[in-house]
Formats: sequence, C-alpha cells, structure tokens
Amino acid sequence: MNFQDMPKVELHTHLEGCAPPEFIRMLAKEKGLDLSGIFNADGTYAYRDFDHFLEVYEAACTTLQGPQDFYRLTKAVLEESASHGVVYQETFISPDFCGGGDLGAWREYLAAMEEAAAEADRDLGITLRGIVTVIRHFGPEAGKPAAHCGVETFGGFVRGFGMAGGEMVGRPADYSYLFDQAREAGMPLHCHAGEWGGPSMVQETLDHLKVDRIGHGIGAIDDPALVQRLADSGVTLEVCPGSNVFLGAVDSWESHPIQKLRDAGVKVTVSTDDPPFFGTTMTREYEMLNKTFGWTKPDFDEVNRTALAAAFCDDATRQTIA
Ligand code: ADE
Ligand code: ZN
Repeated sequence: MNFQDMPKVELHTHLEGCAPPEFIRMLAKEKGLDLSGIFNADGTYAYRDFDHFLEVYEAACTTLQGPQDFYRLTKAVLEESASHGVVYQETFISPDFCGGGDLGAWREYLAAMEEAAAEADRDLGITLRGIVTVIRHFGPEAGKPAAHCGVETFGGFVRGFGMAGGEMVGRPADYSYLFDQAREAGMPLHCHAGEWGGPSMVQETLDHLKVDRIGHGIGAIDDPALVQRLADSGVTLEVCPGSNVFLGAVDSWESHPIQKLRDAGVKVTVSTDDPPFFGTTMTREYEMLNKTFGWTKPDFDEVNRTALAAAFCDDATRQTIA
C-alpha cells in the first residue's frame, strides 16, 4: 500500500514545531545565534523529556524574528506536508512567538503566513488554516493579549482558538475566561488535554472550556464513563500517536489507545504534532497504524472524513477538499 500518496487531512500541528532542524540552523546562522545546544550530533533536535522539549522548542523559536521568517517557515512546512499527501492542514499559531501579543505586529505575522499559505494552495494543492493558541505554561494572565489577538483576527485564515503547552500547569478552569471570550466571538475551540494529564484533565477541559476538539485526549482511556461521554458528545480527538510514543506519553505503538477509543465510538483523527521533533511524518503515522492495528484504506478514509467534518474551516472550503 502506498501511504505517502493517500490524501490526508491533518488537524493538529504546531507551526514552529514543524520547522526542520536545518531550517532553524539556517536562521540561527543568519542571526548570529548559538543554538548548538539544542541539536544532537546527527543534526536532530536534542531534548530529554517533555518539559525539556518545550524549552528546546522555545529556543528554536528565538530564531523566528519577523514576519518574513514566518513566511519562509510556512512555505517550508507546506512543501513537506504536501509531499506526504496532506491536502488540508490546521496549525497552531501563537501570538507569543509572533510579536509577543501586540495586535499590530500579530497582523503582520499573520499576513506573511497567509501569503505563503495562498501560494502553497495555488502551487501545491494544500490548504492551511490557523488556530490561535495561548501557551498554558505561560499562565492565564499572559494568555489575555494572545486571546485578544485571536478574537480580533478571527475569520479568513484564522479559524479557531485553543491552548497548547505544559498541561500540568494550573487547571482548565484557570483559563476559562480566555475560552469564554473566544466562544463569544464565535470561534471554534480546541485544547490540549489528556496528553499528560489523566481523565480528570479531559473531564475538566470539557466542563470548563467547552471545546469542540481535544488535542491528544488519550488519558481519557482510563475512565470508561468519560470515553462514553466523548463518544456521545461527538467531541473529536486529534490523536498524535507517533508524538505520544516518542515523548513517552505511552510505552509503545502497541499500547497506544487509539484503537480502543475508536472501537468505543470516539471520533478519532490522526496528526503528527511536531513532526521533525518526533522523527515522524504523516506517511509514517499511516504506516505505523497499518503495521500496529492493521488499518487500511477504508480506515484511513473514515479517519479523514472525520477530520474534515471536524475541521474549523468554512463549509465552502470543506467542500473543495472533500
Ligand atoms: N507545543 C508543541 N508541541 C506540544 C505538545 N505535544 N503538547 C503541548 N504543547 C505543545
Ligand atoms: Zn500538540
């Protein structure tokens, strides 16, 4: 089976997290930054665990210093995604890494990303949309300007609001003010939960943040009633198995709960999260799901239909992808 050419819908990527290490090294050289500490001898990103991964991620982001760098990043990311058959991609974009929450600066960064996305749409047949995310471990206060940027630029390229970052910082309710604002503005909502936190984190995310989609959500598997709630509610999980295995959120592909969640009627989709950080691609995710759980084209077709139905794009865009 040729998994690379299969058309794919990917809902969960972090734009900076898709930056190839060689791209970050090129920017570091341009800017005279010494980032040698974040790379292994073979050129891959070097980190010990999830918290250290977040530090290395943020160090890599220091090389992205203006809209033009985000234009180049978006172009490079979409070329790679398109080469793996991705036809529609959503990506988390963070005002914190794009002007530090200043609305004027944010608009300029967004325009640059949008320009690169429009070119890739025209030249490569891949459509990109953005979800504005606050970074949880920066705290609820720091999220306010970022959320403001999201609300003010909702529509067009920006399709939703969400939260990424260190999940064990605070509780979901601490961030409900930000999600309430975004919901009132009509934004579809996403939140990372149940990547590291157990069922209670997923439960509280549903209760307090009232999201449409959960990033990861795999921690729900330990509570059958919660799994049933996910299935009944139709909340879609953006599952990133390769990321979970690589970071150690699960022990192995064989023990990953994606199959059990799917069997329980939960809407599951497949994404890469931060592919060069985890040595993965959408092709590899499909290959591993085939090898581990025996998924074949009908399974991937179903997962892609689920993803497209849960995508935050407008219906006209959805119809052009289908
Ligand atoms: N930011 C980038 N990758 C992330 C992940 N896997 N979990 C939470 N925040 C992230
Ligand atoms: Zn993520």
